[in-house]
Amino acid sequence: MSTFASLMRPLDVKGVRLPNRIVFPPTVTNYASDGGEVTERLIRYYQEIARNGVGLTVVGATAIARAGNLFPLCTRIDGDEYLEGLSRLFSVIREAGSVPAVQLAHAGRQTSHKMTGEQPVAPSPLPCPVWKDLPRELSPQEIEKVEDDFAEGVRRSKLAGAAMVELHGAHGYLINQFLSPFSNRRTDHYGGSLENRARFALNILHKTRARVGSDYPIICRISAEEFMEGGLTLSDTREIAPLLVKNGVDVISVSAGVAASRPLRDQHMKQGRFWELAGAIKESVPQTPVIAVGKILDLATAEKVMESQGVELIAICRALIADPELVTKSLEGRSDEIVRCIECGECTASLVKDESTMRCSVNPNL
Ligand SMILES: Cc1cc2nc3c(=O)[nH]c(=O)nc-3n(C[C@H](O)[C@H](O)[C@H](O)COP(=O)(O)O)c2cc1C
Repeated sequence: MSTFASLMRPLDVKGVRLPNRIVFPPTVTNYASDGGEVTERLIRYYQEIARNGVGLTVVGATAIARAGNLFPLCTRIDGDEYLEGLSRLFSVIREAGSVPAVQLAHAGRQTSHKMTGEQPVAPSPLPCPVWKDLPRELSPQEIEKVEDDFAEGVRRSKLAGAAMVELHGAHGYLINQFLSPFSNRRTDHYGGSLENRARFALNILHKTRARVGSDYPIICRISAEEFMEGGLTLSDTREIAPLLVKNGVDVISVSAGVAASRPLRDQHMKQGRFWELAGAIKESVPQTPVIAVGKILDLATAEKVMESQGVELIAICRALIADPELVTKSLEGRSDEIVRCIECGECTASLVKDESTMRCSVNPNL
């Protein structure tokens, strides 16, 4: 029986001790209420994940503004009325033995007026090839308001007891939209050069630090490659990652792709390319912990990726949706009892069907 010694080592991030290197990455479940409140079902779901040996549990994309809603039933944090539910959720995760965090997001153009009740907003009036809703270009004053909304979201997360937050700068959502020439064609100081395209993200960081101080850990998730013609490539993101770190990010979580590149993204993931992307980003921020992700279905692979790519943390999503007890079963030498993810795509597909909640073909408990 393997002890997975390197995976089981604790890691300190700005004074927050993660008991091991396994992360449940942000996962929208559509288990929130239609107003974005935490529900009993959502709490029970995260409790099951957190009590089974995951070191860091990141609550899925939580909207920092109504216009930024990503899914029909995702959590929200754009008002103090959400504090009570979130605070219960974070306590349950903590009591279950994991460190609670939350991902904060704004969908930008990757949403629809049907979901948010208003026209989507974006850096430039270019529709996402998948969502197709024509977005309205944000004015500089409106951009400043969204920056404030992100910072307020972080302040509320801290107040509600999240040990850290993750800014969603990946997968083609608003922060990513500003970073990328694929979606940002602005000619003012928020567009053009990489420095200008990064301004939105860096302003969010500065405004956030002004509210929560310098010692609150901030993760930023990025898409290391967009896999789109004219989009961000690894050489761009190897410049962006150090900029984020210099301006207050403590952990970089490396994913890839945007909504429009989904098929390609899945294809690349099959080849383990995501792991190499994480290793390449790690080289650009050698002093900063990096999270790798992508089709890591068992702890032996997790350990292999950690060691081969030199990264500190490993995120496991679908394999934990399929079997939340994956880690405990592996550690107890009961690997033969693990219910394996069959990568059928039902979990993701179920989210976009009308009013549908996350399902899994092999986990009937959901
Ligand atoms: C149902 C589902 C919901 C997801 N929700 C989010 C999300 O809210 N934020 C995010 O950054 N990634 C999200 N992801 C992506 C995962 O965090 C993860 O990066 C991806 O599933 C690849 O990891 P895996 O191969 O271990 O599943 C989601 C994935 C799934 C399957």
